[in-house]
Amino acid sequence: MAATRSISCVKHLAESPNLSSIPSNYIYHTDPAETEVEASIPVIDFSLLTSHNPHHKAEAIHDLDQACQDWGFFILVNHGMPEELRQGVLEAAAEFFNLSEAEKPEFEPENVLSPIRYGTSFNAATDNVFCWRDFLKVFVHPHFASPHKPQSLRQLLPEYCERSRDVVSKLSKAISQSLGLEETEMETELELRSSLQIFVANYYPRCPNPEAAMGILPHSDHGLFTLLIQNDVGGLQIQHHQRWFNVNPPPNSILVNTGDHLEIFSNGKYKSVLHRAVVNDKTARISIATANGPSLDAVVAPARRLVEGEGGAVAVYAAMKYKDYLLEQQSGQLDGKTMLKRVRIQD
Ligand code: OGA
Ligand code: NI
Repeated sequence: MAATRSISCVKHLAESPNLSSIPSNYIYHTDPAETEVEASIPVIDFSLLTSHNPHHKAEAIHDLDQACQDWGFFILVNHGMPEELRQGVLEAAAEFFNLSEAEKPEFEPENVLSPIRYGTSFNAATDNVFCWRDFLKVFVHPHFASPHKPQSLRQLLPEYCERSRDVVSKLSKAISQSLGLEETEMETELELRSSLQIFVANYYPRCPNPEAAMGILPHSDHGLFTLLIQNDVGGLQIQHHQRWFNVNPPPNSILVNTGDHLEIFSNGKYKSVLHRAVVNDKTARISIATANGPSLDAVVAPARRLVEGEGGAVAVYAAMKYKDYLLEQQSGQLDGKTMLKRVRIQD
């Protein structure tokens, strides 16, 4: 059934003639002492991670382990995702946001577990500060949903999501090993055969006061790994040693960040990374973030073998069903790592 209410999206606002400054509910105060820096972010060669040469593979797993410990973030190259598919999905997302204002309300959700959610900001019902973005979030695994238009998105979504899951599956195997577990232990404990995958398209329109607004407020992602691609417009920033770093990915790469459930499963070895997106006054930015988590029904706790037995560590996170975690995180406001702190039981 089509929703009856309709949101006021920021794309529409941004395109209104004579908009010279942003409405006050979009004003976000950053700390003026904050500096933004360029960084050399770790690069992981996916072809080595999946190599049959055990030496190359071991080296790549070591690099992945370091990247996840130091940054919670890396640039994936040689990932095997065809360039036409990457570009095609970005263009299809643009077509979705370019649908007319009359066509989009049918994709507004009933609740945060609706399989197709078109919206603005993060949680427009509760946000104190609005994010300068519109979004489309689609549950694509274990049950596949898709907006019925535009046609291009319907066509490309299955393959893009399946290939992304394949990348995540291989990353999960490597991470399982770098935690000292068997290759398949992570996928078994987190029931990754029915992993939740959410396709998120973000649209950040041009903004007349980019320094006063924020595209997406600082947060960590709830899942295990998020894969991110963008049109050729930057904006993503990640926090590293209390400073914000601009991310300028090389062409044809995929950005990967670690999420809260990897932090929980690894018992704190791999901390989820705080990130945000800034906006600009020149070009609209589109990003596609594919969130990959455990099964919604998995009760997630630190990996059993890390915390049991005599040599086991103390579990620093309480067990919680992923579905309950997701519901609580998505129903509130976007606020750093607040949700993760609720399940943390030790400092
Ligand atoms: C997200 C996200 C960042 C970006 O969708 O969770 O963090 O660069 N997006 O769009
Ligand atoms: Ni995010």
